[in-house]
Amino acid sequence: MKVLTIGGAGYIGSRLVPELMKAGHDVVVVDQLWFGNFLPPSVNIIQKDSFSLRADFMRGFDAVIFLSGISNDPMAEYAPHLNFMANASAPAHAAYIAKKAGVRRFVYADSCSVYGFTDGVEVDEKYLPGSTAPYGISKLQGGLGVLQLVDDNFSTICLRQGTLSGYSPRMRFDLFINTMYMKAMMENKIVVNNPVIWRPLLAMTDAVKCYIKALEAPPEVSGTFNVLTLNLQVGNAADHVKRYFLEKHGVDVEQSINNIQDRRNYRVSNRKAREVLGIDFNGSLTGILDELDVNLGKDFNFDQDHFYNIQMFKRIFKE
Ligand SMILES: NC(=O)c1ccc[n+]([C@@H]2O[C@H](COP(=O)([O-])OP(=O)(O)OC[C@H]3O[C@@H](n4cnc5c(N)ncnc54)[C@H](O)[C@@H]3O)[C@@H](O)[C@H]2O)c1
Repeated sequence: MKVLTIGGAGYIGSRLVPELMKAGHDVVVVDQLWFGNFLPPSVNIIQKDSFSLRADFMRGFDAVIFLSGISNDPMAEYAPHLNFMANASAPAHAAYIAKKAGVRRFVYADSCSVYGFTDGVEVDEKYLPGSTAPYGISKLQGGLGVLQLVDDNFSTICLRQGTLSGYSPRMRFDLFINTMYMKAMMENKIVVNNPVIWRPLLAMTDAVKCYIKALEAPPEVSGTFNVLTLNLQVGNAADHVKRYFLEKHGVDVEQSINNIQDRRNYRVSNRKAREVLGIDFNGSLTGILDELDVNLGKDFNFDQDHFYNIQMFKRIFKE
């Protein structure tokens, strides 16, 4: 399949694109390269803003994977105007021109952040998302925009992802387990803002499978799919990381608990993704930590700005 991956040089894309190529797809990446480029030299990368793409450029692609955008709450709150353009308008714009160009499938990187603060009962895709934060609202708007375009010749699959964790050549240390791993490695410490908060976690290995399954799904499949490896409470995740460091590295990591109020709390079902897309979520928290250990470890230089989205973003978009 000829696949255009917009935002393909980010954390997810840097792991996904080589796997798509290994699976035999012909991949082109369009990315603004905010965080640099960690893709293999063989990847065809065009440094561009997705808003500058036109239907002529999209002609000939079978599918578009849309990973681009502002990818966390701190960035969205730092520049809400850019957030709503990048996350609410840009996916709809890209899907609109893709459809005009005859592309058959559009895969959108949605987020479970749309759910906001729930009472912790497991929710599925029929649950009405309640986020009031700029990031959550804009991701929901992006999904609605692209789903609006579905018809017999154009399929949209929104992968509503839990928080990703695991290794990528373009690391992010602002993500839940990745942050705990980095802090435990660098400072022998894990900071837990609120131990009772529920979060769905998506192992990078499972995320890659999700995108490949979404590309391969029968043409009539469209819709939103929660994708996650497991749901867990932040305090339990921290205990797991602490045990891992003790058993694997003989290090007794200190845990500090802040009990700070969180605006996000959700436990999510992945049943629809398993049943309709046939995704076998077989990642695990230990598997994620093993992967980080093998690829990073204690000699890794964690202190680089491009691994921390908000730091780079503030530098690029100085008010
Ligand atoms: N990582 C997660 O835990 C997670 C969870 C849920 C949803 N998501 C969503 O998945 C997507 C990818 O996440 P990620 O972790 O890889 O993010 P990332 O921040 O690492 O990568 C985003 C990429 O998009 C590029 N980009 C931004 N605006 C662009 C534009 N207008 N045109 C072209 N390129 C542009 C950036 O340069 C960057 O390389 C995001 O949309 C995010 O909202 C991520």
